[in-house]
Amino acid sequence: MHPLSYAAHDSSPLKGEQKKLRIGVLISGRGSNLQTLIYACAGPDFPAEIALVISNKADAYGLERARAAGIQTTIINHKDFSNRETFDRAVTDELNKAGVQLVCLAGFMRLLSPWFAEEWRDRLINIHPSLLPKFKGLHTHEAAIAAGEKIHGATVHFVRPELDDGPIILQASVPILANDTPEILAARVLEAEHIIYPRAVRLYAEGRVNVIEEKVFIASN
Ligand code: GRF
Repeated sequence: MHPLSYAAHDSSPLKGEQKKLRIGVLISGRGSNLQTLIYACAGPDFPAEIALVISNKADAYGLERARAAGIQTTIINHKDFSNRETFDRAVTDELNKAGVQLVCLAGFMRLLSPWFAEEWRDRLINIHPSLLPKFKGLHTHEAAIAAGEKIHGATVHFVRPELDDGPIILQASVPILANDTPEILAARVLEAEHIIYPRAVRLYAEGRVNVIEEKVFIASN
């Protein structure tokens, strides 16, 4: 048994008799990663449930996915707030009201304030379409092809105040093939995203994700 297994049992995020971790998902658009989390959470043995989906865009298709699954949704338009932090505080109020214990960013196209990253430190994760720390920011597929990379992929990581930074929980790699366009590569990466995001949420909910000196150690079960 890995020595960190002991720490994992102490650090279970579930409280008392609670069976499932309550997650909040933040989206801005399509919501395909949200959809994979919805499917995963529908499994009776999956240790998490989606308590709330928040979008900063009223027309985000992900909201329809959430409504179809009977999940509570809230729209918080960032344009209604004078600065990033007041928006982030409003988002936090809604997450807290819903009893959210882990926040999952899933195509949420807003930069978050340092305040939010600290408030949710080690309870806030993101999925990014590259093998971080390579290719932070937008247009990762174009950048990977332009750089002549042969391997690309996706990363689930804890969020820190710096953009696309933070301890890496899981990564999945895919090949870059000779005739790939950014669109073809994006589709291949997205399939990998859909595998690792629910897997990372499961590991977290099982209390097996430990951050030690800004590195993640996954405890064996
Ligand atoms: C994904 O590629 C994700 O990695 C990035 O934004 C995209 C969101 O896609 N952060 P979707 O809305 O989950 O379909």
